[in-house]
Amino acid sequence: MSPTGRFVTFEGIDGAGKSTHVAQSIDWLRARGHEVLATREPGGTELAEALRELLLHRPMSLETELMLMFAARRDHLERLVRPALAAGRWVVCDRFTDSTWAYQGGGRGGPAERIAWLEQWVHGDLQPDRTYLFDLPAELAAERRASARAADRFEREDEAFFRRVREAYRQRAGQSPGRFLVVDSRRTIEEIRKLLEEDIASIGI
Ligand code: TMP
Repeated sequence: MSPTGRFVTFEGIDGAGKSTHVAQSIDWLRARGHEVLATREPGGTELAEALRELLLHRPMSLETELMLMFAARRDHLERLVRPALAAGRWVVCDRFTDSTWAYQGGGRGGPAERIAWLEQWVHGDLQPDRTYLFDLPAELAAERRASARAADRFEREDEAFFRRVREAYRQRAGQSPGRFLVVDSRRTIEEIRKLLEEDIASIGI
């Protein structure tokens, strides 16, 4: 077993189908004897989950949204993520700062320099070792979302918003090709599962 854990994140627009694969990847790692912290953002700790409720359901300005995202992240990192990594555990996180770049930056048009500043302040040089970006055209993601649970504040945004979010994600992936693996969400669940297992094995099992 690998002595040091890895920090792995899953990203993508709402409806791109990442949740199934987050769960499968966690099961797969645990079945191989790894200790895994399975977590999510915004959320993960009691305080960050309380902030998540506000973020997903209360109206607020872009600035408030951006700072609450990073406030939740800071608590999550301090209490859960950093201690788990320090103990050699794997951390599998459903969304992280790439979501902020995509949603508050791309989707809402938030200023890049402020996001960069907050990112540096809140997590310094800590970045995921690997990020799986589930990529799907906005119109297909909207169809998939239509059959899902009641929409939150983000899921109620229009298709143009999600086109911008997708574009921002793809730009981010282009800037860090060594960290990102872009997964075409139109592939079958089985194909994606195999791809992810091979890739996770390659980064540290
Ligand atoms: P989830 O439904 O995938 O758990 O994510 C919750 C929502 O929060 C999702 O619509 C994306 C949004 N989000 C942001 O806008 N910025 C962020 O930094 C994070 C982590 C999530």
